[in-house]
Amino acid sequence: MKDKLIVALDFPTLQDAKACVDACGEEVTYYKVGMELYYAAGNEMISFLKQKQKKVFLDLKLQDIPNTVSRAVRVLTRLGVDMINVHAVGGLKMMQAAKQSMREEAQALGIAAPKLIAVTILTSMDETEFSALNYRTSVAEQVVSLAKLAKQAGLDGVVASAQEAKKIRQACGSDFLIVTPGVRPAGAATQDQSRITTPATAIQNGADYLVVGRPITQAANPQDAARNIQQEICNA
Ligand code: C5P
Repeated sequence: MKDKLIVALDFPTLQDAKACVDACGEEVTYYKVGMELYYAAGNEMISFLKQKQKKVFLDLKLQDIPNTVSRAVRVLTRLGVDMINVHAVGGLKMMQAAKQSMREEAQALGIAAPKLIAVTILTSMDETEFSALNYRTSVAEQVVSLAKLAKQAGLDGVVASAQEAKKIRQACGSDFLIVTPGVRPAGAATQDQSRITTPATAIQNGADYLVVGRPITQAANPQDAARNIQQEICNA
């Protein structure tokens, strides 16, 4: 059950990130390493988390031509993380190529392949900002159509807002993972996030994993903040 909460380690140094993991203690079993930390000290951080028997979501949001992404995914598969992502707007062929190289590499290494998921529309984006991209659909429609494309490509799930989770579940079925950032406990600062929900609503809407960063990592007591969210997840 604790695995449903993924804490985003958005820190510039290994030292800061390790301090946060130590502060969260047993309350957190799953961590997200994103661009900032990965570019600063990625592989060392992943080893640290693995030594502590924590799960790792490597959030690098890959997007490039199919050959480049599939080769990058092959290399990242060797890190032994639990989840990796690409951008769904990279298209069907890019996602298929990523999935295939991951499968091949995991098989060659004799390890379980990480989950491969696709980012749909960033949770920081609201309808107004989205409309400037000129897709001529609503955010929710675009998220669902990207989720269907990710499923068609054989991916394990998507990153989306919990506001779209019910529609994704309907369109993509019960075994398709829905990972939701943009989670804020009632009354917490939204910062740059737009399409937010509370932890309880995210679970009720069908999210499998909740990604939470600043409400925990910037809290005076990260362990208490994580415990409160874990309880809200349990009671939802
Ligand atoms: O601090 P906060 O809870 O807003 O952190 C959310 C995390 O989830 C960040 O690390 C961000 O990169 C990530 N994320 C997101 N929206 C997406 C995909 C990932 O906020 N669509």
